[in-house]
Amino acid sequence: MDELISERLQSFMDRWVSPLPELLQEIEAFTLANHPEAHMLSGAQQGQFLSMISQMIRPRRVLEIGTFTGYSALCLASGLTEFGKLVTIEYRESDAQQARSYFDRSAYRDQIQLLQGDAHVLLPTLTESWDLVFIDADKTGYADYFNILLPSVRRNGFILADNLFFHGQVLEEPVKGKNAKALLSFAEAVKSCPDVEQVPIPLRDGLMLIRKL
Ligand SMILES: C[S@@+](CC[C@H](N)C(=O)[O-])C[C@H]1O[C@@H](n2cnc3c(N)ncnc32)[C@H](O)[C@@H]1O
Repeated sequence: MDELISERLQSFMDRWVSPLPELLQEIEAFTLANHPEAHMLSGAQQGQFLSMISQMIRPRRVLEIGTFTGYSALCLASGLTEFGKLVTIEYRESDAQQARSYFDRSAYRDQIQLLQGDAHVLLPTLTESWDLVFIDADKTGYADYFNILLPSVRRNGFILADNLFFHGQVLEEPVKGKNAKALLSFAEAVKSCPDVEQVPIPLRDGLMLIRKL
């Protein structure tokens, strides 16, 4: 599969996006230098987009599934109201520890709650009502996450789901990989749900932006 975004377009975008705060730059540099799956980090384009979405919504309650090293959580936290709270779930202990060390150094240390464990187990235990949800964990879980979470997203609340294109594999014919197939099942579940409207956004690996009606 060809690159979804040409090198020329990527460097044009890199040239014009505002730099993110120093701590986020540090997380990105550390992750790129040390993490074997560094490609999973949102990066500056998507990070700035997540920050601005959150700053537009000014959420009281944000949920993230898939913390990784904490980059996107800190972007999403930037729009929280004064007494707002962000809950983020990470399965792997080492990533959770790394993320926690960054949260502790951030302005949002008292507003971010990191739950370490499997989101499939933890989600049904949460009782909050969400203004903004970011789904960015196991792709085969997306459709389940959407169905489990939708009742607890408030009216006019938003869900953002990452990797809609799954490295371009959703565009292949036939679609072969299990993750690409899972993303298509998720997109079908969203499209056929009468309680939401949605728009795919071709940023990086593709995002689905969903509004609960
Ligand atoms: C793509 S990375 C998240 C990247 C992060 N949101 C960012 O932008 O920097 C996906 C993360 O989800 C975690 N994960 C995968 N399956 C999970 C599950 N069932 N429950 C919780 N976390 C999970 C992985 O360990 C990984 O750290």
